[in-house]
Amino acid sequence: MGEAFEPRVVAFCCRYCAYSAADLAGSMRLEYSPNVRIVKLMCTGKVDTLHLLKAFEDGADAVFVAGCEEGDCHFLEGNLRAKRRVKQAKKLLGEVGIEPERLEMFNISASDAPLFAAAVNEMTERARRLGPNPLRKEAEKVA
Ligand code: FES
Repeated sequence: MGEAFEPRVVAFCCRYCAYSAADLAGSMRLEYSPNVRIVKLMCTGKVDTLHLLKAFEDGADAVFVAGCEEGDCHFLEGNLRAKRRVKQAKKLLGEVGIEPERLEMFNISASDAPLFAAAVNEMTERARRLGPNPLRKEAEKVA
């Protein structure tokens, strides 16, 4: 029997909100899946469709973008831009045979540590249910 599958989750987090919520979750000792790698951004508007696809190519089993609440983005519409890019990337993922639900956008205020923990757990569970990202399986075959 092979090793049990442990999903890898990548979270692109805005420093003004979700990243602070992640920090707070840590200080509140909220339990969430340890399999998440957090990428800190100035604003989710910085995240490109290509960054999202690259995260999957690099072996993530699930990816999420977490930005400020709609209307609260410090760069006005960065989170709306991110929302559109997530939608576009989901479509592209579907076209190459990767389940679009491996990718999601969340809006998490800085004080909402429980929502951050719930987002990590939700995406970890999705990945666990879907199994390893097909690109990761291919890469591991080659390695
Ligand atoms: Fe947080 Fe733009 S500053 S999403």
